[in-house]
Amino acid sequence: MEFKNNILEQIGNTPLIKINKINKGLKPQIFVKLESANPGGSVKDRIGYSMIIDAEEKGELKPGGTIIEATSGNTGIGLAITAAVKGYKSIFVVTDKVSAEKINYLKAFGAEVIVVSNMVEPDDPEYYINVAKRIHKETPNSIFAYQYSNPANPEVHYKTTGPEIWRQTEGKITHFVSSIGTGGTISGVGKFLKEKNPNIKVIGADPFGSIFKHYKETEEVIKGTPYLVEGIGQDCIPENVHFQYIDKIINVSDKISFSAAKRLTREEGIFCGGSTGTIVHVALDIAKDLTEDDVIVFIVCDTGERYLSKLHNIEWLRINRMLETSIRTLRDISDSKKARGIEEITSVNPYATVKEVVQLINEKGFSHIPVMKGKTAIGCIIENKLMKRLLDEPELINATVKDVMGEYCPTLDLKTEISEVKKVFKDNAVILVSDFGLITDIITRYDLIQFDDE
Ligand SMILES: Cc1ncc(COP(=O)(O)O)c(C=O)c1O
Repeated sequence: MEFKNNILEQIGNTPLIKINKINKGLKPQIFVKLESANPGGSVKDRIGYSMIIDAEEKGELKPGGTIIEATSGNTGIGLAITAAVKGYKSIFVVTDKVSAEKINYLKAFGAEVIVVSNMVEPDDPEYYINVAKRIHKETPNSIFAYQYSNPANPEVHYKTTGPEIWRQTEGKITHFVSSIGTGGTISGVGKFLKEKNPNIKVIGADPFGSIFKHYKETEEVIKGTPYLVEGIGQDCIPENVHFQYIDKIINVSDKISFSAAKRLTREEGIFCGGSTGTIVHVALDIAKDLTEDDVIVFIVCDTGERYLSKLHNIEWLRINRMLETSIRTLRDISDSKKARGIEEITSVNPYATVKEVVQLINEKGFSHIPVMKGKTAIGCIIENKLMKRLLDEPELINATVKDVMGEYCPTLDLKTEISEVKKVFKDNAVILVSDFGLITDIITRYDLIQFDDE
C-alpha cells in the first residue's frame, strides 16, 4: 500500500511550476513554489507543524495543552492542522481585516477565534498580538506560538523550503522573490540559498503602507498606513525578519497586487491570494532587467479560495475601487505620490511648541502642517496665517500648537473620485487623505498636477 501515516506527512515538498504566459517577452525562466499545495492551502502549514514540534521538544507543550497565536489566519490554519492530529486545543486572535473564509476555516477545526480591531497601534493593549499574549498568561498549560519571533519559523524554511527550491532548480536559481509577513519564509529560504550561492538575489515584495522597505533602506522605523492585502507587511519590525539575507524590497499598491493575483489565476490557472499578487508583480518587474541565464523562483503563499469574498469578488473590488477600469480616485494620486518615493506625513502633535513648528516649516518648506493625535487629524498649521499672527504677537513663539492651530484641512476618503478632489482643491491648497477613518497621506495641488501629468 502507498500511503502517508497522517496528514502532517503531506506538509512540504510542494511542486515547482513553470510560468508560461504572464511573462511573455521576458527573458528569464520563472517558476512558482506552490505553497498553496500544502494540506491547509498555505505556506504556514510548515511553521504550524514546526512551532508545535519545537514546543513539545522543549517540554513547553504537554498533552491536553492549548496553542495560542496572533495570526492573519493562515498560521492559525497551519497550527490547527497539527493541533488536530496531536489533540491540542487552540485559540486564535485575528483582526477584523481577516476574511470570513479564514475565520470560518479556523472554527471548522474547533478553534476558538477572537476578532479584534485592525485599527489600533502596536502599543495598545487591544492590539491583536497583545491580546494573544494576555490570553496566554491567563490560560494554564498553554503556549504562545508567536510566529513573529519564534526561531522555529525561519528554521523550518531553512531546513525544508530552501533545500527543496535548491534541489528542484538543480542549483540554477538566481533570484528568489517572497513577501514579508513575519519574515519566516524570506529569512529561512534566503539564508539557505545564500549559503549555497552568495550571488543569489533575495527580493522582498512589500505593500505600500508597510514599513519594511523604508526600514531596509534607512534603518528608521516609521509609522505604517493601512492597505488591503492580507498577511504581509507590518507597522513594526518582527525579530524574524533577517534583513541581512534580503537584497532589496519593492513596494506594490493594493490595486496592482490584486490585478497580478487575478492574472496568475486566469492565465496560468494558479489560484492565489493578494499577497501572492504582490510577489507576482515584483517577480515580473525584476525580470525586465534579467537575461535568459536567470532563473526566478517566487512563492505562491496561499490559495485564492481564501479570498472568494474579497479580491476574487467583483463587488468587493468595486466597493474598494480596486477594479482596473474603475473611475480614478484619491487612492491613485496617493499611490502615484508614494511611487515617487515620498512617504511619511510631516505632522506635529498638539503639545509641540510653536517654535518647533516654525523650525519644521523652515526645514521642510511646507505651507500646511496637520496637527495629529495618533493617526487622527485635529487641526492644521497654515504657514502664512501663523507668521502673520507671530508678527503681531511675538510671545506666541513659546505657546503650544493646540493654542494656535487653525481650522481643519479638508479630509477626504481614499475612495473619493478625482473629479470631487479637484473641486475641493479650488479653495484649498492641501487635502488630508483618510482610510478607514485614519489619516494616511497629505496631498497638495502639486501632487495632483504631477499625477495628471503622468
Ligand atoms: C497570506 C500570507 N501571505 C504571505 C505571508 C508571509 O509569510 P511570512 O510570515 O513567512 O513572511 C503571510 C504571513 O502571515 C500570509 O498570511
